[in-house]
Amino acid sequence: MLARSVAACIIVIVVSVQGTSLETRTSSAYGAAADVMPSIRSAMLGSIRTSWEQGTAASAILETDTPTYSLFGSSPFKYSSSAGLPVTPLQFGLSAVTRQGGDGRLSGDGKSGAAVDSSSAGSVVMLGSFAETSKASYWHNAATKQLHYLLHTAPRTSTGAISHRADSKQYWADGVFMAPPFIAYYGAITSNETLLQLAYDNCRLYRNALRVKGPYGYAWAHIYFDSTKSWVDKGIWGTGNAWAALGMLRVALTIQKSSHASKMTTQSKNLVSWVKEILDSTLPAAVKSSPHLIPNYIQGDSATFGDASSSAALASVTYRCLTLYPSIFKTSNYSQAANQISSAVIGGVTELGLMKPVVNPLSWDEEGVVSTEGQAFTLMMIAAWKEYLDE
Ligand SMILES: *[C@@H]1O[C@H](CO)[C@@H](O)[C@H](O)[C@H]1NC(C)=O
Ligand SMILES: *[C@@H]1O[C@H](CO)[C@@H](O)[C@H](O)[C@H]1NC(C)=O
Repeated sequence: MLARSVAACIIVIVVSVQGTSLETRTSSAYGAAADVMPSIRSAMLGSIRTSWEQGTAASAILETDTPTYSLFGSSPFKYSSSAGLPVTPLQFGLSAVTRQGGDGRLSGDGKSGAAVDSSSAGSVVMLGSFAETSKASYWHNAATKQLHYLLHTAPRTSTGAISHRADSKQYWADGVFMAPPFIAYYGAITSNETLLQLAYDNCRLYRNALRVKGPYGYAWAHIYFDSTKSWVDKGIWGTGNAWAALGMLRVALTIQKSSHASKMTTQSKNLVSWVKEILDSTLPAAVKSSPHLIPNYIQGDSATFGDASSSAALASVTYRCLTLYPSIFKTSNYSQAANQISSAVIGGVTELGLMKPVVNPLSWDEEGVVSTEGQAFTLMMIAAWKEYLDE
């Protein structure tokens, strides 16, 4: 990390003597982010975590520490001798497995009311099945038990989607990050088209249930209670949209990098267009705000304070889309929005490396102090930003 920070400083010095072009300002803004990254990371590691925070932190660590094995890297589904053992993501996976419940849910969620949250750590567990070959069956069995819970134990909604909750049938926008990326990843590694399709269908069914018209176009409402056919939260929550965009991008990319890619182009194209729909209906709210942060609620709730957490997540998705799908995203105003938002996010980092202001992850309409997911989203943003600049 030190080497990277030093390198970032050198880049800033070199470019800053050339004037103040947009690229210069972008690089120096990235340099500031690289400098605070270690303390953002250690604040995340130091936090006490729930199951979904364990999985989200694991994803951020995978993308930050061992990018070769992330979905955005060159070896997402097989061992890479040059990258070697992905130690830190496996440390997160191991902790999730040692607290796996008898029903298959990872990270101590065996008795929880959440059906899908535990599966957010499923991918780093499945990673062990090929990245630590001496323990391949240990990792594979744990991932399979978690998959089995999703497929056969978790309740299904009236449309057949896997319910977000274990005790009733509900759609939460959050759920799109929790289960579908893991189901798709397991499907890609075992070359199972049924699972890739199931991951896609869960994104599609959640979108159908939660999509509402917002001030900038269609976005996602937060929670629909399918058992009683009523809204629990019809507001357009920034982080809900962030979870949905993060999850759908990962499922799209998993399909595209799998052996079934050519048969499933309609599915991956739809997912990318649904990610774009969310960016188009959320980023303008940050562009309009000062500082440039996504409002905690874009519509439907009075808690409209700027939220660094959803902002970082949506900036990460924008940088990834700019890198992966330039023909769809590069010609437009997305890079400007991502740069404005990422600078605002980094501008708020505290002395202890905490993102501020952030929504309380346990209480959606108030500001919180420590947001593990916000810390993780910011690491995802910095990793995506780096790759975008390195292009
Ligand atoms: C794909 O996965 C499902 C669910 O685990 C399983 O029932 C099915 O047999 C698998 N198909 C193949 C071809 O392996
Ligand atoms: C970019 O511009 C288009 C067309 O004016 C608009 O629909 C879209 O919402 C804008 N996106 C952002 C991120 O501002």
